[in-house]
Amino acid sequence: MIVLKTAKEIQTMRDACRISAAALRVAKEALKPGVTTAHVDNEVRKFILSQGATPSFLNYGGFPKSACISINDQVIHGIPDDQTVVREGDIVSVDVGAYYKGFHGDNAATFPVGAVSPAAQKLMDVTRECLRRGIAAAVKGNRLGDIGFAVQSYAEANGFSVVRDFVGHGVGHELHEAPEVPNYGKAGHGVRLVPGMTIAIEPMINEGVFEVEVLDNDWTVVTADGKLSAHFENTIAITDDGPVILTAE
Ligand code: CO
Repeated sequence: MIVLKTAKEIQTMRDACRISAAALRVAKEALKPGVTTAHVDNEVRKFILSQGATPSFLNYGGFPKSACISINDQVIHGIPDDQTVVREGDIVSVDVGAYYKGFHGDNAATFPVGAVSPAAQKLMDVTRECLRRGIAAAVKGNRLGDIGFAVQSYAEANGFSVVRDFVGHGVGHELHEAPEVPNYGKAGHGVRLVPGMTIAIEPMINEGVFEVEVLDNDWTVVTADGKLSAHFENTIAITDDGPVILTAE
């Protein structure tokens, strides 16, 4: 069931989303060559708690940390730890959410660490643009397939592939609500978009094949061919006046 939010609820949800966006900035600032992913996670957790909010991902389905930190060929759900050191040239995807006043915010971005290869930069640029185009398609009267089509067509036109096994989602009182928001699809197909829907659009775009695998820790998703992956996500509201990015920087 898709839970629609009133304008007042969306207003409340903005606070959780603002904290989520700020937490992502904290991660970005902390990401320097030589730091561990546990250090970055710790900075994020401390920040969210300092805002009177709760890290949405901590203990969610058993996930042990506050942020998912996924490096290079890791697509999503990388688990921060004391052994994993961020290095110059890495691209690092950070996914983080905050729960505040009864609502979740959810957002992600892939950051370059120092100087990265032109190929890595292109993948990040294209994935960010995929998100922008997906959001632009999230207007009332359109359908979910229009969002997926917007993302997929741009990714594939640039020679990249779209992860199929993981998708975006509704977000609100729960971190993951209906509907699923695929990053692929047919224009004009799927659930119709109406004002009051709050969804997380989150393209996961691979440099090579779209297939992914899950590591033995049962969380971390990696590309099947070991090539790079990037991930950008915003929580948005569909309104009469068009899509509103609630996790805007
Ligand atoms: Co999400």
